[in-house]
Amino acid sequence: MIPVAVLISGRGSNMAALLEAAAVPGFPARIALVLSNRPGAAGLAHAAAHGIEALCIDHRPFGRDRAAHEAALHAALQARGIGLVCLAGYMRLLTPFLVGAWTGRMLNIHPSLLPAFPGLDTHARALAAGVKLHGCTVHLVTDIMDDGPILAQAAVPVLPGDGVDDLAARVLAQEHRLYPLALRLHAAGLPGRYDPAASLLSPLPGPAAGT
Ligand code: GRF
Repeated sequence: MIPVAVLISGRGSNMAALLEAAAVPGFPARIALVLSNRPGAAGLAHAAAHGIEALCIDHRPFGRDRAAHEAALHAALQARGIGLVCLAGYMRLLTPFLVGAWTGRMLNIHPSLLPAFPGLDTHARALAAGVKLHGCTVHLVTDIMDDGPILAQAAVPVLPGDGVDDLAARVLAQEHRLYPLALRLHAAGLPGRYDPAASLLSPLPGPAAGT
């Protein structure tokens, strides 16, 4: 099983979904580390309560030295033999150093149907644009923010009367299904890890009703 680190900055609900999925026998990856750049991230307590190493490498003591902060992150990942990194609400822009060190092995989840609405405030922007479909994307991380090869997407309707919170909740429910699926597919598809049971044609795990 490939050891995975999940990088968070806050709530950590996607991280929790990954933990839950990875606990199921046969999942091709195990969550070995949850790493936050913010000491107060709620997700750290959740990870620790589930017996997962929860580590904070606070970015603030590094000031503007992003390279030094990333070097500390990278050293922590390497020291634990991490094979894949999942960004899950990790609110720091990455430099080419960390992206380059993890090319093909770093995933991100973004709350829009990329390439539409990269960046922040995706739900408000989707409502303002009047799109009828919105959703979420899991992609490989490259030097361009919210770009990179798309691994999986899930779409939701934008319904009449939706506010930002309605739409965010509808998308988030899909994020919690999509990220575990994308991690499973990607981990199983790495060299030597082919898993014939992992297919995009398989139904998404979890209940679909009401989402
Ligand atoms: C999610 O909407 C994710 O798509 C975005 O940041 C949010 C993180 O939420 N990148 P959580 O911390 O996983 O609950």
